[in-house]
Amino acid sequence: MTTVRVSDLHAHAGATVSVDGWVMTTRSSGKIAFLVLRDGTGYLQAVFPKNEVVDGAWERFATLTQEASVRVTGMVREEARAPGGYELTASDVTVLAPSTDYPITPKEHGTAFLFEHRHLWLRSRRQVAIGRVRSEIQQAIHDFYYERGFIRTDSPILTGAIGEEAGELFATEYFDLGQAYLAQTGQLYIEATAAAHGKVYCFGPTFRAEKSKTRRHLTEFWMCEPEVAFADSNDNMRLQEEFVSYLVSRALERCTEELKELERDTAPLAKVTAPFPRITYTEAIARLQAEGSDIEWGADLGADDETALAKAYDQPLFVMNYPKQVKAFYMKENPDDPRTVLNNDCLAPEGYGEIIGGSQREDNYEKLLERIHAQGLDPATYSWYLDLRKYGGFVHSGFGLGLERTVAWICGIPHIRETIAFPRQIHRLYP
Ligand code: 4AD
Ligand code: MG
Repeated sequence: MTTVRVSDLHAHAGATVSVDGWVMTTRSSGKIAFLVLRDGTGYLQAVFPKNEVVDGAWERFATLTQEASVRVTGMVREEARAPGGYELTASDVTVLAPSTDYPITPKEHGTAFLFEHRHLWLRSRRQVAIGRVRSEIQQAIHDFYYERGFIRTDSPILTGAIGEEAGELFATEYFDLGQAYLAQTGQLYIEATAAAHGKVYCFGPTFRAEKSKTRRHLTEFWMCEPEVAFADSNDNMRLQEEFVSYLVSRALERCTEELKELERDTAPLAKVTAPFPRITYTEAIARLQAEGSDIEWGADLGADDETALAKAYDQPLFVMNYPKQVKAFYMKENPDDPRTVLNNDCLAPEGYGEIIGGSQREDNYEKLLERIHAQGLDPATYSWYLDLRKYGGFVHSGFGLGLERTVAWICGIPHIRETIAFPRQIHRLYP
């Protein structure tokens, strides 16, 4: 007997096959019984007519419990109303391994309970859909850069230099060399590889010991960071808008079923096309003040400010040229207003807030050194980074896109903790 994955059933219409999977639900009406199972590739209804099944199968059906793993055998039948377009007229079922008292029942559970059982919760329809969208977006990220001739260079996770914020580091003892930090960003390292390859990106986990308990912060998250030699801040924003619209259209094209499962209204996503609107930080402050906010020029934008600014648009919004003092040391000073830097955040629509932070990099050796001193960083640890300005300095720019925030926005789910299989937050290290 051939064993087939649910997603391949279409190639076996009319044939008798076996499918291995896990029991989702069962119901029986005395003469006919129904089993819905999933195997990760899809969902399948198997229909058992009592008079047609093999000896013992009807009794075995009666013992099935939620999440038991089973092998069902039957004839593949095209059925327009079925989830994947096919059903099984089953003749047999055997239990491969039992499941007793599965803790996640069809009734409502609180989120605390669900996150304690995250290792099992991942099997639910909604979590499967989110996981599949995440996987598609990761693949789309690689395809986007591959198609454009970028070289993927991997950055270290154990680092000796602070990438973003001194206050948000996970540190660990590193043999005789003192402290090592878990990378907050791969950026500094890919500025070096950009000088080797011209157009590069890294994509991996990054770590922030942020004490934020918001719906958009994790202590471990994935970031895709491209870095381009001989590209300025404008080129950088053009790449970002092309990239973000590509990711959205890939999800719309290839995750139709998943977005339906998530009840995502796709109309707002369908509007996402380059170019995106751009405003400066100074304009943003004026707008917020005009709407009654007491924010002052010089303060960083908070989540509510971002939501207020973004709601005027149905596209993602670029906010450019933030004050130097609220941004990282490596951002290039704005020649037109040296209080500010040549950077941009990209704010997703529908209240999702910042999904990208990017900038042109300071390529002037003296200015960079000054900024390193001003931020109280140790120039010795950045000596290699400063070398990039000493040996063939080059205009260059890049950005980081947070995968979980992007997936949350595309899926239309409120909290990013559901967008990664095992979220890490200040109060969560289990499972
Ligand atoms: O704005 P950030 O801190 O930028 C950087 O790390 C730069 N080095 C990127 C670069 O220019 N190469 O972070 C970039 C993005 C944010 O816009 C957000 O999407 C995500 O990373 N991010 C987080 N996502 C989840 N949890 C957190 N704690 C995050 N912090 C940042
Ligand atoms: Mg940022």
